[in-house]
Amino acid sequence: MDTAVTLRGRDFLSVADLDRSELLAVLDLAREIKAGRWQQRPLAGKFVAMLFQKPSNRTRVSFEVGIARLGGTAIALGEQDVQIGVRETVADAARVLERYVHLVVARLRHHADLSELARFARIPVVNALTEIEHPCQILADLLTIRERFGSLENRKVAYVGDGNNIAVSLSHAAASVGFQLRVITPAGYEPAAAGGLVLVSHDLDAVEGADVVYTDVWTSMGQEAERDERTAALAPYQVNAQLMARAPQAIFMHCLPARRGEEVTDEVIDGPASVVFDQAENRLYAQMALLALILE
Ligand code: CP
Ligand code: NVA
Repeated sequence: MDTAVTLRGRDFLSVADLDRSELLAVLDLAREIKAGRWQQRPLAGKFVAMLFQKPSNRTRVSFEVGIARLGGTAIALGEQDVQIGVRETVADAARVLERYVHLVVARLRHHADLSELARFARIPVVNALTEIEHPCQILADLLTIRERFGSLENRKVAYVGDGNNIAVSLSHAAASVGFQLRVITPAGYEPAAAGGLVLVSHDLDAVEGADVVYTDVWTSMGQEAERDERTAALAPYQVNAQLMARAPQAIFMHCLPARRGEEVTDEVIDGPASVVFDQAENRLYAQMALLALILE
């Protein structure tokens, strides 16, 4: 590997697991991969198990393609396969998987299960989303912001809506790489955010001056029973043309999948400020860089 930074053998459960220089090293390598300047295959002869307890399009496909491009083999396991914590304990499943594969990517319902998996598996574990964090998404988002603005430092990011896993992971990134994050959310929906450069506001005026307006669904996977209550509470926080007009220079970001007409209007997500498909594409390069640095 050409980079001075290595993540060899490391877990990635939270954005906070990587320090600033490590996050930037992942982004630098991702940029090289995307530009076609780095074409190594550090996963040749290596196997990755991907455990999914929740549905996925971007995460599943981008990891599987990325692993193949790095020379490795991905084994995607759905809800009915491992049944981690159901057919056997999380610890036993971890002790078995480590005998077969070199790394586990896991999208689990409970972050506590992911932590336990990482504690018992003597191989690296990567978080593919839990109810607490979605760190791989945020790597792709940082890459996208840097592509647009040249740097991350001192950028103003306004996250509007539910203080969910995306908001928490963004808050760790803000603290680490030094951009300003304002989370604009109704009372009761604030994230358990990292300190530092995070300001929480209930007032939509806080989008003014933003370089980035980011939103996500109001009802995350697993919260379906609360859908009506959440929709009512979050409705005033829709990202529409009127709101975007208050930050006229801002790009619009969303991790997808979007509920068009709820947290964002078609006009915004399909409009000229939207970079949502760049974010989705960048999942591939950011995760290839991450896995290359962990499994080099
Ligand atoms: N953004 C994201 O993680 O999408 P999927 O749920 O489709 O993987
Ligand atoms: N907050 C959403 C993100 C989906 C990628 C969820 O957890 O369902």
